[in-house]
Amino acid sequence: MCGIFAYSGPGDVTQTLMDGLRKLEYRGYDSSGIAFFSTDDRIQCVRACGDISELEKLLSDEVRESSGKTGVHSGMTSSMNGSGIGHTRWATHGAPTKDNAHPHRAGPFYVIHNGVIENEGELKNLIDPQSLASETDTEVIAHLLLRFYKEEKGDLVKSVFKTMNCLKGSYAVTVLCEERPGEMIAFKQGPPLALCKGEGWIISSDIYSVGEDVQEVIFLEDGEALFLKDQEFQIYDRQGRKIQKEFKIIPREQSLLDKKGFPHFMLKEIFEQPDVTRKILENSIHRHEGQLNVKPAGGDHESFNRLIKKVSSVRIVACGSSYFAGLFGKYLIEEFADVMVEVEPASEFIYRKAVFDTNTLILFISQSGETADTLTALNRVKEKGLKTISLCNVPNSSLDRQVDYGFYMQAGQEVGVASTKAFTSSLIWLILLAFHFSKERKTLSSEREKSLVKSLLQLPPYMEQVLGYEDFFLETAEALKTFSGFLYLGRGVFYPIALEGALKLKEIAYIHAEGYPAGEMKHGPLALIDKNKAVVALLPSEGILYDKTLTNLKEARTRGAEIIGLGGKDTSELKKLCNHYLPLPKLPEFLLPVLAVIPLQMMAYYISRSFGYNADRPRNLAKSVTVE
Ligand code: AGP
Repeated sequence: MCGIFAYSGPGDVTQTLMDGLRKLEYRGYDSSGIAFFSTDDRIQCVRACGDISELEKLLSDEVRESSGKTGVHSGMTSSMNGSGIGHTRWATHGAPTKDNAHPHRAGPFYVIHNGVIENEGELKNLIDPQSLASETDTEVIAHLLLRFYKEEKGDLVKSVFKTMNCLKGSYAVTVLCEERPGEMIAFKQGPPLALCKGEGWIISSDIYSVGEDVQEVIFLEDGEALFLKDQEFQIYDRQGRKIQKEFKIIPREQSLLDKKGFPHFMLKEIFEQPDVTRKILENSIHRHEGQLNVKPAGGDHESFNRLIKKVSSVRIVACGSSYFAGLFGKYLIEEFADVMVEVEPASEFIYRKAVFDTNTLILFISQSGETADTLTALNRVKEKGLKTISLCNVPNSSLDRQVDYGFYMQAGQEVGVASTKAFTSSLIWLILLAFHFSKERKTLSSEREKSLVKSLLQLPPYMEQVLGYEDFFLETAEALKTFSGFLYLGRGVFYPIALEGALKLKEIAYIHAEGYPAGEMKHGPLALIDKNKAVVALLPSEGILYDKTLTNLKEARTRGAEIIGLGGKDTSELKKLCNHYLPLPKLPEFLLPVLAVIPLQMMAYYISRSFGYNADRPRNLAKSVTVE
């Protein structure tokens, strides 16, 4: 996934572009570049490999001067506008090099792109492949625009639609044309693009990149093209017809690109989890009455309640951490609402013949609301006319705008690529939904509801208590960093947490780790265990699953593994068995996973930091994968 930021308006265009790109850097940081009209109506293009700071170094004073502090083109008054486009890249087609950095040029066209053009090979038959200067699919778009601009004798609208009609795959594209100073073009299929109205006009991949003063936004839909000239713009639909679109007023959160003293956004976001939980609970329970108050943010809640009364089963579709949260949701919804739940990674779901009955409710979980696999799954499901709900963290995201009922994680912007607060928010919302389903289906007594609310209200202070075990995290991380492989084991509601803990270590410390059902150890993985392996065991507080997991832990111990234990029990036996043991506060079993994931986040973070890695920008990854 990449970040697109374009600006047309007064002021220092290059500075505005750079400010916007810095806020989008979490979307990709392999390379970056800007192209802007200079005072002589020529386009200047500056590109750099590496993160934004490399581009900043190239933007010397004279380059900035050439963009004109007031963005003035020749023959224009100083109050008029400058314009430019900027891009921060997560490499898909073509290595992360300067030659492959966007913008890409063909003739007068400068193009930036987020997505993957799947038929780029055949499209090269429509252009002169010898003229290509990069390995990217994006450059092909620029050459197609050039060809059709010549064929259509400078008709920009026709050139753009002829180009779009050639493209297969996903694209969010923004274009400058040197022959058209002050104009900007944008078109999309898949990844998001928003037109934002501020002092000038901004076209961006997401609204987090624009200042808090910007509230009026138009989200382009698939197949639409935008033509902006000075202060006027026109949008065309897929058929090339002019359409009118209303601005949406977007409530703006305070810009969060401030680490508030933390070394990384990820650590800040881990520590935000108690307050995020408080906010969710404030909005979803009546504290004093001890009652649930769960309502969708989007869609009518009475019709939602009617729907969940007749639902025959729930299908949860998601990716990565969101998929693991869905697995947790399965245990909760089946246990407390007695509704069958199936959970599937979106990337598998979209390529198989999925069978449903008409009363299957599909729940999509996505922090970004822009994950391509999840959005493709949504389209498949809507074609079958099934009802859809989403749990996502970005209001007005592509997912949020297309479902029947939307729930917001309310975690606030999550900048760290490795999901933390959004994951725990998802767990809490799935607990709330499970009990809301049960309540609406008359299987939740008011006593049980009151006791649930009471237990939920204990979560934030207990989360703070767990976050306080800094010494444990540091000493465990120091002890574990030398191990070459990790097995994270859990049963029941702890199994999805084992998967999530392993993912955290993989994605920010680059160490191989596997989450596994503890009961499956003896069916193979036990062969992996020796003194070079570490086993992280997540233990319930009591009961058969505690006993069974303890047995698995002992099996690993006798084979020499380093054992890290987390659980709701605090006994001398556990402390003897484990090289490192952390007892968790006393809570009902189904709430413990919300606490148990925090030490796993912290251990992965401290191991990553001990290697000097940037946990916010792990290699090869991006915050939202808007390509399949
Ligand atoms: C989680 O730490 C990863 N960043 C990744 O697995 C992520 O959860 C996945 O790409 C899904 O993203 P989404 O929740 O925005 O759809």
